[in-house]
Amino acid sequence: MIRTRRDAEQEESVMTAPLTQSATLPVGNRLEPAPHAEQPNGTPGGAPDHARHDTRAILESVHDLALLLADPPPAKNAGGRPMIARSKAMRDILEQIECVAASRATVLLEGETGTGKEVVARLIHSSSPRARKPFVSVNCAALSESLVESELFGHEKGAFTGAAESRVGRFELAHGGTLLLDEISEMAPKLQAKLLRVLEEEEFERVGGTRSLRVDVRVIATSNRDLEYEVARGAFRRDLFYRLNVVRFRLAPLRARREDIPALVGHFLGQFRHETGTSVRRVSQQAMEILTAYEWPGNVRQLRNTLCRASILATGEEIEPCHLPPLDPVAGTAAEFRGMTLDEIERHVILSTLRELNGNKTAAAERLGVTARTLLNKMNKYHAQNLLDAP
Ligand SMILES: Nc1ncnc2c1ncn2[C@@H]1O[C@H](COP(=O)(O)OP(=O)(O)OP(=O)(O)O)[C@@H](O)[C@H]1O
Ligand SMILES: [Mg+2]
Repeated sequence: MIRTRRDAEQEESVMTAPLTQSATLPVGNRLEPAPHAEQPNGTPGGAPDHARHDTRAILESVHDLALLLADPPPAKNAGGRPMIARSKAMRDILEQIECVAASRATVLLEGETGTGKEVVARLIHSSSPRARKPFVSVNCAALSESLVESELFGHEKGAFTGAAESRVGRFELAHGGTLLLDEISEMAPKLQAKLLRVLEEEEFERVGGTRSLRVDVRVIATSNRDLEYEVARGAFRRDLFYRLNVVRFRLAPLRARREDIPALVGHFLGQFRHETGTSVRRVSQQAMEILTAYEWPGNVRQLRNTLCRASILATGEEIEPCHLPPLDPVAGTAAEFRGMTLDEIERHVILSTLRELNGNKTAAAERLGVTARTLLNKMNKYHAQNLLDAP
């Protein structure tokens, strides 16, 4: 299932920036324009045109070979689209997916909104022996408590008011395949208990039913919240957390893996050309600088939407800063905290500082401008040590 990035580029038709556009960043990881690529008279170094083309062809082949040897291979997801992984953090995840996919182990995917949890879930499924079987997802946050139960396990006719017919649930639909439980942290406590029992016993009954049903399903759960913190504050069952946490991936926010941005830009522009016939092939260097400096609180999804809008506004082949909405790096940071309480922001800042400094409390206290005692008190308040010690 894993392909080289070169394959992906060919399939997605990610085009090279013309070698003559020295102010343009290539959208794929293709050959940078050589400084001598074009002289004012169009004959670099006085070489004849055919020699120039030969040299360019050779350089491109060498470059492509180097990509094959040195570059991380992205992988396909179920929709046949590559998952872009240029940063070390994402490459590590790709590598682990290869091992995890073969097993039936339950997977927990954590990460901010738009970081690619569903992409990873689909990739695990499509790389697994279950690839030909269904991939079924349920958004636990979008449905009321009673509806989620019926969605997951199905119901028998007359089980509740309005249940005019019996209905197959998502567990049954996913038989042989993979069930994605999206936003599991939003699941009501009563249902958490039932889910735990089903995962343990691999058996369940439809709502209003008495017959036990057995299914063979691999479960992948996602959460935008730090599920361990939810456990620590009593909002999520500890036993269910341990049951789900067999394999755990934390997807880094895009601002922590900015190396992925140029590759994602190239990937999305290629996708838009395919899907909507836009003519945009690249972004200008200035625009790319803005894109890579921004904090992206909505992560890859926000980047994709921003590029989609810019591709519509751009009339030529290039996205310029004027085609982008205001992307102020500081405003982006503030947006990350939108909707959070002061306590949540403080906890988030303390944990991310400690993680960045490998748990060094003295350095973290110094960075945060508080005494070591204050930091320790706050760490106790937020159960920070447990969270840091977790594998
Ligand atoms: N590494 C990647 N390569 C290519 N596309 C990606 C990648 N990561 C995310 N995307 C794209 O970004 C968008 C958001 O990804 P996805 O839906 O997987 O995020 P999510 O973490 O599940 O978000 P949410 O928590 O809001 O459900 C999708 O269009 C997806 O295809
Ligand atoms: Mg999702």
